[in-house]
Amino acid sequence: MRKNQPIGVFDSGFGGFSVYNHLRQLMPNENFIYIADSSWCPYGERSYEEVRSRAVRITEYLIQRNAKIIVVACNTATAAAIELLRRKFPKMTFVGMEPAIKPAAKLTNTNVVGVLATQNTFNGQLYKETKKKYAGHIRVVVQIGFGLVELVENNQTRSPEAIRLLEKYIQPMREAGADYLVLGCTHYPFLLHSIKIVAPQLNVIDPALPVAKRVLSLLSQKDLLNDGLMDYTAFYTTGALGKLNDFARAFVTGNYITDALQL
Ligand code: DGL
Repeated sequence: MRKNQPIGVFDSGFGGFSVYNHLRQLMPNENFIYIADSSWCPYGERSYEEVRSRAVRITEYLIQRNAKIIVVACNTATAAAIELLRRKFPKMTFVGMEPAIKPAAKLTNTNVVGVLATQNTFNGQLYKETKKKYAGHIRVVVQIGFGLVELVENNQTRSPEAIRLLEKYIQPMREAGADYLVLGCTHYPFLLHSIKIVAPQLNVIDPALPVAKRVLSLLSQKDLLNDGLMDYTAFYTTGALGKLNDFARAFVTGNYITDALQL
């Protein structure tokens, strides 16, 4: 491995940019390849088999493009596929999304926390184990975020529909006494502004920064941090290029190129 090989990042769509923005800030010299699998988005309601086969296909592409590490910037793909990816590509290092129940369970004063995630994330072993391990002593109010990923993909994060759905999903958590909300899907941090309108007092936990720090620490341990300047950052979408451009313009920091990709 060479230090200037890129960091590969993928998600069902644009949600993983919430992780990418932290990665970029922490590692300004790194080259990146980001894949938004927007043609297959949302992953949250697809079968695990479908999500796994997309994750394998995208990983093969990122390996072909010389990725030195792969960030599965998607809770759903992590839940469905990360074990398979680690088995199938044993030489590659994968970093996935952790459901951030642990910090919420530690910080809550009311002993009630809310978790917003996709159906497939809640169904996964990882969520169940994390909940059992860290949140046995508290009440966890779960909610599937139906429709939220689509709003983010279409750059409607501040729309009346976003407010309506968030009110519907967050209200029962507040009624139950939740003081923390865990964002269990990488798309949801882009809704933070609307979440704050709906529930200004609720503390929100987004695991994106800790995940980005983990990538930094792994690369540093392996002595693989780029010591030259950044050469390129490329964002690809399997969906409509115009949507990627609109999203990146609105939400993504730094320089990059974009293109459409058939995978
Ligand atoms: N960004 C996703 C996640 O973290 C994917 C959501 C979806 O495609 O349904 O779970």
